Amino acid sequence: MAVSSDRGMWSGRLGFILATAGSAVGLGNIWGFPTQVGQGGGAAFVLIYLVCVFLICVPIQICEFAIGRRGQRAPVGAFDAIRPGSRWWLVGGLGVITGVGILSFYVVVAGWTLAYIWFAAVGAAGDTPKAIESFFGRFAANAPLNLFLTIVTLAMTAAIILGGVRNGIERASRALMPLLFGLLVLLAIRAVTLPGAADGLAYYLKPDFSRLTNIRVFNAALGQAFFSLSLGMGTLITYGSYLSKRESIGSSALWIAALDTTIALLAGFVIFPAGFSIPGFDPSASGPGLIFQVLPRLFATLPGGQLFGATFFLLLFMAALTSAISLLEVPVAHLIDEHRWSRRKAVLTITAATALLAVPSALSNGAVGALTQLPGLGLDFLTLMSTIWNNFSLPIGGLLTAIFVGYIWRVEGALSELLAEHAWFPYPRLWGRIVRYVCPVAIVVIILFTIRALVS
Ligand code: PFF
Repeated sequence: MAVSSDRGMWSGRLGFILATAGSAVGLGNIWGFPTQVGQGGGAAFVLIYLVCVFLICVPIQICEFAIGRRGQRAPVGAFDAIRPGSRWWLVGGLGVITGVGILSFYVVVAGWTLAYIWFAAVGAAGDTPKAIESFFGRFAANAPLNLFLTIVTLAMTAAIILGGVRNGIERASRALMPLLFGLLVLLAIRAVTLPGAADGLAYYLKPDFSRLTNIRVFNAALGQAFFSLSLGMGTLITYGSYLSKRESIGSSALWIAALDTTIALLAGFVIFPAGFSIPGFDPSASGPGLIFQVLPRLFATLPGGQLFGATFFLLLFMAALTSAISLLEVPVAHLIDEHRWSRRKAVLTITAATALLAVPSALSNGAVGALTQLPGLGLDFLTLMSTIWNNFSLPIGGLLTAIFVGYIWRVEGALSELLAEHAWFPYPRLWGRIVRYVCPVAIVVIILFTIRALVS
C-alpha cells in the first residue's frame, strides 16, 4: 500500500487484513511481548494483556478503521473531514509525533535482529548460556556497531518508502510470514521438550495474582496491546481509508487482533520454556535483551541450529521492516497531505529527525553508562522511550479516538459507517457502550493511577 494523492483501494478484505497484519506483526509480538511478560511477572500479565486486547483495543481499532473509511484521508485530515474546523485533528498530530518516537527505538531493536542473522549463521554467540549472555552484553555495548546497525535499518526503511518498492516488500513479507509462523510452532515444540520447560510453562500460564499489586503492570499490558496492534497513532485510520465500503470492519478487526495475539502468545511458548531450561534464569533481569539471550541457546540445542537461527532472525527482520514502514508512513503522509511537501523531502526530514532520537537508544544498553542507567530513573533510555510512547502516548491517542467517536462523531454516526451495505457487525449497541464508557474510564484510571504511582 502506498499513500498517494491518487487514492488506491485494497484488493479486498483479505488484502486489507494481510496488509494490516503486516503492520501489526513485528517486534512487538516476538520481542516486546515476551520482554513485557518477563518484566510484568508472567501469566497474570498475559491475562491482563488479553483483556486489554479484546475489551479495550479491538473496540478502538474499529473506531480507527471507521474514522479512516469515513474521512478518506490520513489521520489529521480524517478527523478534520468528520468534524471540520474543530481541533480534533490534534489527535492525528499526536500520532505523527508518536510515529517518530516509536520508530526511534524500533530501529535499534530491528538492528539487533539484523546482526543476529549473521551471528546465528556463524554461531558467533557460542553455545553455553553464559557465553550467549555475555555475547549479547558485549554486542549491545559496542557503540559504533549499534549506531551502524540502527542507521542501516532506518535507511532501509526510508529507501523502501522512497523507492516505491513498498508493495514488493510487503508482498514478499506476506509470503514469508506463514514461514515465520511455522518456525515459531517448531521452536515452541522444541522449547517445551527441554529440561526445565515445565517451570517456564508454569510461569507463563499459571497466574500469580499476588504480583498484581502494582498498577504499572496494567499500564504495561495496555501499552503493549496498543503497540502490538499498531493502535493509537492513526496507522489504522490510514489503512481504513483504503478499505472499500463493501467490506466488514468488524470481522476484519477481529481477525487481525486474533492473528496478532496468536503470534505473540506463540512467542511466549518459545521464550519461557527455553529460558527456564537455563539454570538460574530470571526473566525479569534481562530487559530488552531477553530474546537475544534465550533464542541462540534454543538454536544451539537443535540439529542444523545455525541455519534455523539465521532463517528465524531473517524472517523476524522482515516482519520488523514492514512494521517500521508503517511507522514511518504516518508522519511522512502527514507532511505530504497537509503541508504539500514532496515525498522525498518528507522522508528525508523525518528520517533525519528519527536518526537523531535513535542515537541515545542505540547507546543505552551498555555503550554509555549514563544512558544505560538513567540517573534517578534506574532504567535504560530505550526502555524509557518504549514506556513513554507505548504506555502513555498510544493509550492517550486511543482514549481521544474513543471520545471522538463516542461523543463527537457519536455512536450512531460511526455505526452508519460500520453497518454500511449491511456489513456484518455483532452487538453494535454493546460496542457503542464500550467505546463511550469502558474504554475511556479504563484508560483514564490506568494512566492516572500509574502517574500517581510514579510520582509518589
Ligand atoms: N505493531 C508493530 C509491532 O508489533 O511490532 C509496531 C507498530 C507498527 C506500532 C506501527 C505502531 C504502528 F503504527
